[in-house]
Amino acid sequence: MAATCDNESLPTTAMAEPPDGNYFVSAYPPFSAWTVDQVETARRGLNAPPAAPDVPLGLYIHLPFCVQRCTYCYYLAFADRSRKDMEAYVDLLLAEAKLLRAAPALAGREINFVYFGGGTPSFLPIELLRRLLTGLSATFPMSAAREVTFECAPQTATQDKLAFLRETGVTRLSLGVQSFHDDILALNGRVHTSADVDRAWRAIRRVGFPVTNLDLMVGLLGESDVTTAEDVRRTIALEPESVTIYQLEMPHYTPLHREWREGRLPAVLPGWDEKRRRLAHAFAQLEQAGYTVRSAYSAVRDPVRHRFVYQDEQYRGADLAGLGIASFSYVQGVHYQNTASLDEYASAVRTGLPPIARACRLSAEEQARRELILQLKLGEVDAALFFAKFGIHLADRFGDELHAMVARGWARESDHRFLLTREGLLRADFLAREFFLPRHRTTRYN
Ligand SMILES: C[S@@+](CC[C@H](N)C(=O)[O-])C[C@H]1O[C@@H](n2cnc3c(N)ncnc32)[C@H](O)[C@@H]1O
Ligand code: SF4
Repeated sequence: MAATCDNESLPTTAMAEPPDGNYFVSAYPPFSAWTVDQVETARRGLNAPPAAPDVPLGLYIHLPFCVQRCTYCYYLAFADRSRKDMEAYVDLLLAEAKLLRAAPALAGREINFVYFGGGTPSFLPIELLRRLLTGLSATFPMSAAREVTFECAPQTATQDKLAFLRETGVTRLSLGVQSFHDDILALNGRVHTSADVDRAWRAIRRVGFPVTNLDLMVGLLGESDVTTAEDVRRTIALEPESVTIYQLEMPHYTPLHREWREGRLPAVLPGWDEKRRRLAHAFAQLEQAGYTVRSAYSAVRDPVRHRFVYQDEQYRGADLAGLGIASFSYVQGVHYQNTASLDEYASAVRTGLPPIARACRLSAEEQARRELILQLKLGEVDAALFFAKFGIHLADRFGDELHAMVARGWARESDHRFLLTREGLLRADFLAREFFLPRHRTTRYN
């Protein structure tokens, strides 16, 4: 097993899974290790020409507006903003895009993939969508991008918006459904109903996107094995190209967390074993219907045609430039996050400064661990490719951790690849923590 010097750095395979806090590992080192005193380092990084211009570059655009806040959600999003607020925000995004485009690290580089996330990007009125996408394409041409993803929620995914998005080059439409049960949706603060999903789905199919992804969740208040199986059955009947299923996390500072802490939950909240059992069953249903499981969260109809470029490239070390409040970036080995304050964001962008609030320059060791951790979430790490890139033999450096996972039936080795079994994939984000440096295991993951 990995060396342990105190209780807090016990190997993950021996740790209890906490009921609350964040589960999903979206970056490494964890956000809590990113600091204000490294902001200048991030700014200097943007001002240096790319050391490896061939590294793919992606864009993430954060749109922090929703009709209503869901009780479990930890994304930065507002449910009380006027159209004027949204208009001002779009103009700031376009100004930030120009600022970033002029930065030597990004200038002239082709955009490989784009992701509009939120919040609920489809909540923007169509005129603002037009202003945003036209303005952004003028600064960062997206026509050569391999994938342009746009997140929608059922109530706001209307025919006119969808048609405009497709015309403008959106190739992957992602619809947040979560459940088809109206009582479960209401209990968890979702604003839509299953009738909204049916209407949105008809509009999506009329317009036609190369890939449509449908998001579901397991672990919602009020759900059961039966309701999850029914949700997956209804999903399969719609025949989406891609299905993503997240296990509910209970992040701190959410209404759900508060109710749980105060013992006021209106229904039973499923634990990790139940979530995994439901996800395992959901994956089996999808496989029976011809889907292939592609990561710890997703299954696709055709693994060759229905790739998720945003995830695959990021997990293999691509640069990612984030736009908007609280968005995070990874450029030339530096992770950084924009300020979460609208006022600070506006004043930085107006003075021509990247609105960065915290950052973290990764050592060579951390860069290698980051890729191992992220690729683990895809269920497979190629040892030869890993050695070619980082000069590290997985079996030598991480032998103890890998063997511990094999011994628990969570992983296996085959043909110089390290693979998670289905049981391993169901807990991939917990296992990923096994590869955190000891000093990062004690920090809270948010
Ligand atoms: C930004 S939202 C997608 C678009 C839209 N805002 C929506 O909710 O439909 C991205 C996805 O994150 C997932 N998500 C949000 N909060 C979560 C939580 N606490 N645990 C697990 N997944 C969560 C949901 O599945 C959601 O579809
Ligand atoms: S609609 Fe999406 S982003 Fe908005 S609060 Fe709900 S989960 Fe969060």
